[in-house]
Amino acid sequence: MENEKKTLLSGIQPSGELHLGNYLGAIKNWAQLSDQFDCYWFMADLHTITVRQVPADLRRRTLTQIATYIACGLDPERNTIFVQSHVPAHAQLAWVLQCYTMFGELSRMTQFKDKSAKHADNINAGLFTYPSLMAADILLYQPDFVPVGADQKQHVEICRDIANRFNGVYGEVFKVPEPYIPKTGARVMSLNQPDTKMSKSLPEGCVFLLEKPEDILRKFKRAVTDSDRDNPVRYDPENKPGVANLMQIYAAVTGKSLPDIEREFAGQGYGAFKPAVGEAVVETLRPIREETERLLADKAYLESVYRAGAERASRVAGRTLSKVYKKVGFLAP
Ligand code: TYM
Repeated sequence: MENEKKTLLSGIQPSGELHLGNYLGAIKNWAQLSDQFDCYWFMADLHTITVRQVPADLRRRTLTQIATYIACGLDPERNTIFVQSHVPAHAQLAWVLQCYTMFGELSRMTQFKDKSAKHADNINAGLFTYPSLMAADILLYQPDFVPVGADQKQHVEICRDIANRFNGVYGEVFKVPEPYIPKTGARVMSLNQPDTKMSKSLPEGCVFLLEKPEDILRKFKRAVTDSDRDNPVRYDPENKPGVANLMQIYAAVTGKSLPDIEREFAGQGYGAFKPAVGEAVVETLRPIREETERLLADKAYLESVYRAGAERASRVAGRTLSKVYKKVGFLAP
């Protein structure tokens, strides 16, 4: 029965074009889960304004992200796809949860430390309390699991702490969710700085999902490896981080195991390996790019998807919010 299925939820910020890290660490896995779970996938637009955005770009990227979710295999009939700012309960619950989040625990968040170093001229309160909003995003839907890449694990953990703290005072209001981190692709590294995670802020080492095939191939051909000549395609993340990253990417897009990949390229150099990884990525992304472009031409359809999604999401989120308001003692309107 529908309501016996376990629930999943996750979101991505439309703060940049989606990249291979978002795909392998998140969306690719989501598409495989929608049969077994009741799924909520959203565009985390409220989160993006913790860093200044160009309004027209934010709108365009939010719509493109919806189209890409669908193009990656998230069927809107079987998944609730919505825009965070269309469901006011996110902002409403975030306020309540901020009052159950401690200053000290927010100060320890790696993403806050990184982003405040990067945007030293705009260390705003939203950047600091961001994990309380993320906790609200999650807890409103009472999910069992939150599928994310490794970099978001800390935020899911603080969400669990906030939920437990709230439940400790008011009883079992929130289900305490588990992070769900993929075996391959959980931490895709930059192609030209393999000690740093792939992100839009390092565009030369970042492969965007809608990028032209020739640009993708060029980035793979230039990927940083090492000067190992004797059987160089070996999985050794400690000593060969660039090669390990390429092998992980190749494994994630082809489904091959790491030992199989070592065998496939035994006796061959990077001149054969790097373009092979590039080609495999191009072939994985080609249908996604084409389908995204096709969907973007049909704005009415995309609107119908996000409106229906917001309606469904609002019903579920509204139930949790009412319960919380009652528990903390707000007079019923
Ligand atoms: P965001 O928008 O930075 O990233 C979205 C998803 O992509 C994953 N990811 C990666 N995975 C592997 N390798 C990489 N290089 C890489 N870069 C990004 C992230 O782990 C994430 O799963 N705070 C979240 C968005 C969010 C959210 C939520 C997620 C807001 N509310 C509620 C889950 C539940 C964020 O900034 O992710």
